[in-house]
Amino acid sequence: MRIPSSLIVVLAMGIASVAVAQDAKPNYDESKIPAYTLPNPLAGVESAVQWPARREQILAQFATEMFGKVPTDKLNAISVKDAGARKPVLGGKATMWQPVITLAGRDLHLLVLLPKESRNVPAFLAYNFHGNHTVLDDLDIPLTKNWVRSKPENRASDEDRGSAASRWAVEKIIDNGFALVTLYYGDVDPDVDDGFENGVHAAFPNKPASDQWGSIATWAWGLSRVLDFLGTTSEIDATRVAVMGHSRLGKTSLWAGANDPRFALAISNNSGCGGAAISRRRIGESVARINTVFPHWFCDNFVKYNDNESQLPFDQHMLVALMAPRPVYVASAVEDTWADPRGEFLAAKHATPVYELLGREGLPAAKMPPVDEPSQGSIGYHVRSGGHSVTDFDWTQYIKFAKQHLMENE
Ligand code: GCU
Repeated sequence: MRIPSSLIVVLAMGIASVAVAQDAKPNYDESKIPAYTLPNPLAGVESAVQWPARREQILAQFATEMFGKVPTDKLNAISVKDAGARKPVLGGKATMWQPVITLAGRDLHLLVLLPKESRNVPAFLAYNFHGNHTVLDDLDIPLTKNWVRSKPENRASDEDRGSAASRWAVEKIIDNGFALVTLYYGDVDPDVDDGFENGVHAAFPNKPASDQWGSIATWAWGLSRVLDFLGTTSEIDATRVAVMGHSRLGKTSLWAGANDPRFALAISNNSGCGGAAISRRRIGESVARINTVFPHWFCDNFVKYNDNESQLPFDQHMLVALMAPRPVYVASAVEDTWADPRGEFLAAKHATPVYELLGREGLPAAKMPPVDEPSQGSIGYHVRSGGHSVTDFDWTQYIKFAKQHLMENE
C-alpha cells in the first residue's frame, strides 16, 4: 500500500513528539531540582473540625485535575456470577477460594487465600499485574483470558504459573492471620491506550470528558466494588481491609484509599510519579513523561501540568494526607530512582501535619531514614535495598504495620 507523503509527515511528527518526551533525559541530580513551594494541605484550616471540608476540596481537585471522576454510580452494582470453589492449600493451613463477580459487564476473577476456618479476618486487597495464576502455582487457578501486557499476542500462558510468587508473601500473610484477596487489574480495564474503548469504559458511548476517569481511577473504583463484595462474606472483615499496590498499582491503591474511606489502611509500594513522589521535584519520571507514555492513566486535564508542575493545586503529599487519620504506608527502594525514593519520603513527611492535627503521630522520622530501617507511626515509610519490586522485606513491614493498626484491639 502506498502511504501518502502528507501522512508520513504527520506520522513522523507524532513519533517525533512522543520520542522527545520519552528521550528527554530525566534528571537524577538533586542539585538540579527547581526551587519549589509545596501547597499547604492545611491551608485555611485551624482545627480538626475544619479538616473534612478542606479534605473534600483537595479530593475534588485531584479528581478533576489528575485522576478523573467516575462518571456515574449507576455501574456500581455487582453480582456474584460464580460462588467459587474452595480447597485447602499450603498444606491445609489455608483455603483457596475463587469467586467471580460481575461489574459493568466484566467478570472479575478473585483469588482469595484465607487462613483455615476464617471468620471476620482482616485482609490485604491488591491487584496483580499478569493474572491470578502468576501469584500461586496451582492448576486450579484459571489463566486469564483478558489482554495481558508483555506477553506474546497479549495472552496468558501456562508457563507463567507462579511466576510472580516471590512478590506475594502468601504464607507469611496467612501465618499472621490475614487473608489475601487479589485479582488481575486487566479484568477491570486492560492497561492499553485504545481511546477508552475497552474494559469498563466500553460501557460508555463516548470518550470520557477531560475531567473524567483515566485507567487509574477506573482500577481504584474496581477495588471499591471488590470491597463491596468482601462486605458480603463472613470470612473477611470488610472494615479491616488494607488496600495495597505496587508501582502503577501503588498509585491506584493511594487513590482508592483516598476515595473510599472504608479502606482501613493503604499501602503504596514504589508508586513513584503520580503516586507518592512529589511532582514538583521533577526527578526521575516527570508529569510530562508519564502523560506521554501512559496517556490513558490520568484524565486529560492532567496534561496541563506537563513541565508546569508549579501550577498544580496540590502535590502528592496531599494524596497521602487524604488517608488521614487512617494508617498509610509509603515504601521506596533505593535503586528505584525512576520513582524518586526521596520524593516519596517527602510526601509521607509533609502529610504528617494533617495527622498531627487529627491527634495522630504521622511519620515518626523527620529525616529520610537509613536504608532498610523502617519508620512507622500512623504513616509508615521505608526505603529498602534493591530495586523496583515487592519483596519479603516489604511484606514483613506491611504485616507488622497492619497488625499494629488492624489487630491491636482484638
Ligand atoms: C513505568 C512507569 C511508572 C510505573 C511503572 C510500573 O515505569 O513509568 O510510572 O510506576 O511503569 O507500573 O511498573
